[in-house]
Amino acid sequence: MRTSLIAGNWKMNKTASEAAAFTHELVQRKPASPSVEIVIAPPFTALDSVRRALGTESSIGLAGQNLHWADSGAYTGEVSAPMLKDLGCRYVILGHSERRALFGETDEIIHKKLATAFRHGLKPILCVGESLAQREAGQTTQLIAQQLRGCLAGFTPTHLAMLTIAYEPVWAIGTGKAASPEQAVPVHQTIRLFLQNEWSSAIAQETRILYGGSVTPQNVSSFLASEEIDGALVGGACLQVESFVTIADLAQKRTGH
Ligand code: PGA
Repeated sequence: MRTSLIAGNWKMNKTASEAAAFTHELVQRKPASPSVEIVIAPPFTALDSVRRALGTESSIGLAGQNLHWADSGAYTGEVSAPMLKDLGCRYVILGHSERRALFGETDEIIHKKLATAFRHGLKPILCVGESLAQREAGQTTQLIAQQLRGCLAGFTPTHLAMLTIAYEPVWAIGTGKAASPEQAVPVHQTIRLFLQNEWSSAIAQETRILYGGSVTPQNVSSFLASEEIDGALVGGACLQVESFVTIADLAQKRTGH
């Protein structure tokens, strides 16, 4: 049984003080639930204030939004896995489409970052997804397999046990035009089949696959109604406590706890 995961990707939003105020409110509103895992990914500059605001008791997990593949060195402006670990991160988002499109990240680069995350015991949330042109050209399945192969080739079952995948169609991110569950579910099945063929049916059954792209309190239940969809990677709707908590509550209802 896969535990549902609701992850909030703050992107480049909130100063450290805004993040602390948000997190204090979130902790008050969101009691721990064993059935749904909640993770938030603030900007690097807010990780410390969010960690302090979460306190030692909170079950809400912290994620980085990116990392550099090297552990340290002359990489001006970059942040390493040990730095994220030291600030309490358990997760890291890798291969987000904004990183791919705006910062030139290729599957090869993402593969290196995944290897670093695994080596340091940071659980990666690997994003994959097609553009509108690729979907319209009927290339979605092929593109997703290509991204998965490029990012994950050579990793072992032990690595895969740490992995979460987020299917995020590029055309749905930040557009208010979420995919329909009818569009998303077959892609989730494609991803699971890929995992089964490349590794094993146990890996395919155990790996969480999230949906991301314009997830809101209004549409999240339609995604979670499918057993194929193990949670959501939420951007815009995670920036207000109210909508993020509502999404987490709806995920909790799904599991009946
Ligand atoms: P969105 O972003 O919910 O604002 O579409 C999702 C994401 O980029 O992960």
